[in-house]
Amino acid sequence: MSALQSILLSLPPERSHDLAIVGLKGAALLPGRVSPLPGRSTTILGKPLRNPVGLAAGLDKNAEAVLGLARCGFGFVEVGTVTPLAQPGNPQPRLFRLPEHKALINRMGFNNDGMQAMARRLARVRSSNKLCGTLLGVNLGKNKDTPNEDAASDYLKGMDCLHGYADYFTINLSSPNTPGLRSLQHGDALRSLLSRLKERQLQLAGQSQPVPLMLKVAPDLSSDDVAQIAEQVVACAFDGVIATNTTLSREAVAEHPHAIETGGLSGQPLADRSVEVVRQLRSVLPEGMALVGVGGISTESQARDMLQAGAQAIQIYTSFIYNGSKMVHKLVAATN
Ligand SMILES: Cc1cc2nc3c(=O)[nH]c(=O)nc-3n(C[C@H](O)[C@H](O)[C@H](O)COP(=O)(O)O)c2cc1C
Repeated sequence: MSALQSILLSLPPERSHDLAIVGLKGAALLPGRVSPLPGRSTTILGKPLRNPVGLAAGLDKNAEAVLGLARCGFGFVEVGTVTPLAQPGNPQPRLFRLPEHKALINRMGFNNDGMQAMARRLARVRSSNKLCGTLLGVNLGKNKDTPNEDAASDYLKGMDCLHGYADYFTINLSSPNTPGLRSLQHGDALRSLLSRLKERQLQLAGQSQPVPLMLKVAPDLSSDDVAQIAEQVVACAFDGVIATNTTLSREAVAEHPHAIETGGLSGQPLADRSVEVVRQLRSVLPEGMALVGVGGISTESQARDMLQAGAQAIQIYTSFIYNGSKMVHKLVAATN
């Protein structure tokens, strides 16, 4: 572990997160263009991907540090979750480390500066022309105060505001920290939401290539749920799926003093379940449909397992928090 990493991990979790973002923001001022580490190149969502290792959503919720994060070597960086209006999220403390399990529990609650602030930042990133080959995903959510019946309008606002900057959108219906959000992953609510977003995607594109739409799903779903979600994704001509978000399960960390904290558990304890969801999705989704695997990846073999289960690309969050950019180097090498 680097000295900087040790210092960051000795501070309270949210303080060290904020400091890391400040440092990564500074990295944007460095001269020169920023490219992904060379690795196993592939095509995803019709776009070239220089290596299959991405940053998962939630670390740079406000797109403040895109260039600094891209400098870590990721093939793709996903910012957000962003909501139409700025909101403070849940009261602190809301982020807990479980280092013995290489895990985190968070109940951040979509704290973010809102879509207009993100649009201004992404406009600067794009006009700097420094991002050279790193794909940029924008993860969209709904405001806490927006009732589920009106959820579609929040996602549509996000698409309208940010479609000029995103290489793809992720529709996040799987955060456990916005009350009721995950119920949108089921039945008619899912179908009607996805079809409205698809319609807007095509309208916004006009004659040009539409910005692809990915759906991010929870790990806490039955296999019937997963099958039904896959059916709707195909029926509504969505472009891909990201699996998975954090879990409510505490089975693997039951003895830990933080196990009683509410929120989503990420990291090592999630790894097996995420691979299982990806494997099931791959078996039912059409062959070429984009599938990104995320959850607990920190070793070479976990990265390879996820790709073997059928993901074309992977994302990391928790292992990046614990290990910094050397985790990106390790996983890019492992997947080459
Ligand atoms: C502190 C924290 C905040 C997160 N915020 C978001 C978010 O805003 N949107 C989202 O889709 N996922 C969010 N996630 C979930 C991650 O993107 C990822 O799906 C999950 O942590 C599993 O990957 P990991 O085990 O590599 O961390 C968050 C995770 C953590 C730990």
